[in-house]
Amino acid sequence: MKLVLASQNPHKIRELRSVLPEHWELLTPSDLGIAGELLEEGVTLYENAQQKSEFLWRACGLPSLADDSGLEVDFIDGMPGVHSAYFAGPQKSDSDNRAKLLLHMQGAVERKARFKTVLAWTTQAGTSLYLGQVEGEITREERGSQGFGYDSLFVPSEGDGRTFAEMQEGEKSLISHRSRAVAAWLKALQKS
Ligand code: IMP
Repeated sequence: MKLVLASQNPHKIRELRSVLPEHWELLTPSDLGIAGELLEEGVTLYENAQQKSEFLWRACGLPSLADDSGLEVDFIDGMPGVHSAYFAGPQKSDSDNRAKLLLHMQGAVERKARFKTVLAWTTQAGTSLYLGQVEGEITREERGSQGFGYDSLFVPSEGDGRTFAEMQEGEKSLISHRSRAVAAWLKALQKS
């Protein structure tokens, strides 16, 4: 079976390939000649994921998978949330985003946060949505050099006190929001 993923991000493509059944062929928009960045104009992760998977389904008629992720921080009312990628501006700089988050968190005692991923899966049966999340806390300074985005500022509650950026990719994947959303999607597929 062929499916298409609404992303050109090599990390996401690799991660998904590694968990798919062997006979499934994972394609990307560029494999199908679909050019340009898929727009994220929704106000929730759900809307963005759904818009992207439905756009692809209309464009190519293949089962389509899309994701949208973000970090919700309680002290700043759930921000940056759906705006995580460009919290500090349209240049989408991870280090600027982290600096802005630390600035907002100066002196904050309440530091609870969570990463969320929403996966949208569109086929001729319609669209289904799957949520994966991981709870944790925002550190007072950056720690670690692995990963990307806000990893060096996030300590998962069910870990040993290290940030995601202090873990190897495989360790992070065991508990990450993204792998949990993928697991929920695969479980639903196996049932159908
Ligand atoms: P995307 O929807 O996966 O592209 O994620 C949007 C933004 O959320 C990224 O640009 C990061 O800033 C942040 N983000 C999502 N997942 C992670 C993660 O696993 N670690 C750190 N930051 C993440």
